[in-house]
Amino acid sequence: MDSIWLKTARLPAFDALRSDIKTDVLVIGGGMAGTLCAYYLSQAGVDCVLVEAERLCCGITKNTTAKITAQHGLIYDKLTREFGTDRARLYLEANQNALEKYRTLCQNINCDFEEQDAFVYSTDRRKLERELNALDQLGFAAEFEEAKNIPLPLLVAGAVKFRRQAQFHPLKFIAAIAENLRVFEHTKVLELAPGQAVTSGGTVSAEKIVVATHFPLLNKHGGYFLKLYQHRSYVLALKNAPNVHGMYLDENEKGLSFRNYRDLLLLGGGSHRTGKQGGGWTELERFAQQHYPSAKKTARWATQDCMTLDAVPYIGPYSKRTSGLYVATGFNKWGMTSSMVAAEILTDLVLNRENPYLKLFSPSRTMLRPQLAANALESTLGLLTPTTPRCPHMGCALKYNAAEHSWDCPCHGSRFAEDGSLIDNPATDGKQKLG
Ligand code: FES
Repeated sequence: MDSIWLKTARLPAFDALRSDIKTDVLVIGGGMAGTLCAYYLSQAGVDCVLVEAERLCCGITKNTTAKITAQHGLIYDKLTREFGTDRARLYLEANQNALEKYRTLCQNINCDFEEQDAFVYSTDRRKLERELNALDQLGFAAEFEEAKNIPLPLLVAGAVKFRRQAQFHPLKFIAAIAENLRVFEHTKVLELAPGQAVTSGGTVSAEKIVVATHFPLLNKHGGYFLKLYQHRSYVLALKNAPNVHGMYLDENEKGLSFRNYRDLLLLGGGSHRTGKQGGGWTELERFAQQHYPSAKKTARWATQDCMTLDAVPYIGPYSKRTSGLYVATGFNKWGMTSSMVAAEILTDLVLNRENPYLKLFSPSRTMLRPQLAANALESTLGLLTPTTPRCPHMGCALKYNAAEHSWDCPCHGSRFAEDGSLIDNPATDGKQKLG
């Protein structure tokens, strides 16, 4: 179940923390967001320490499809309607800037960085037209791609095309940027408060702390358990499948995604809310068998994404009452690009510099969105369901995930192996043997 990234990269190893230390900035979480934050802070001359509970990139980053793009589904029509043109333009600009930062950094890193056009396809031409209109208002030159030019075995009405986006090998990239950072692996944060983190290896005192742990660690501040939920999605790596010469995504969140890496086609999809039934690998395998009968599966893996209430990540101060504590989470399946956006915003915050995107991504913005009611309902159902086992995070009933042999929580997305060990947070500890 290892991703092709994990199979083809060598990450540097770091010792565990073994004493109490002091630093200016502590970054918690060694995925793409945390590592980029630590990288840019160190580049700015800040004394910065990164702690990771296991190994760098052992969480979500190793399972990405590694697309770097400002095209996040048909988001600009939605953002323009719900937030207004100015904020939609800021979102576009923040993500295009992130792409450019990767483009510059990757010039000197051997990480299979490639420029590719990005496409979002749909069976509904009107949706594509609305997105193109919104992008036109924002001054961005997106294009309509005719269905006959789309090299996928699907009946679609066409696609919205963003030129010169990118894809890369995320772990080769991290291996290069992490090399000279002050990192402690196998160092789990046990208690966290502004200014101090008690870890499995000692206490870290820091003026400022960045929490980049996928799902934020602290429950009592920020209400993240109310304003985040998690989604699973699945990937197959196929040999002898076509090169699609681009990065393709269905606008429907239950649809498919396509990109190539070397001689492999990465077919993604089968998504569902964590703890719920969904298509999983079976859906992808069926599609591959039907449309690419001579393709051979060489790897398969799954990933988990934190989703926000309004499709914009939470990046900024952890809450209104926690000074010196910052967070980056809720990347809504766009982890690579959003990690770079987060690194830029958080570096500016830590250095007390102005940043034009602060308000847009503020985790303290209004939570009054329809998804809030859906999350509350899911949590209530999970809490009232009388079956065992229960989730140690807040007590919801766990559901067995037969495809992945895990116990998953529909409330906020914690996952546990059959032996009870923790796979995905927000729970911080495993359980005794399950099932
Ligand atoms: Fe919150 Fe399970 S993840 S109750």
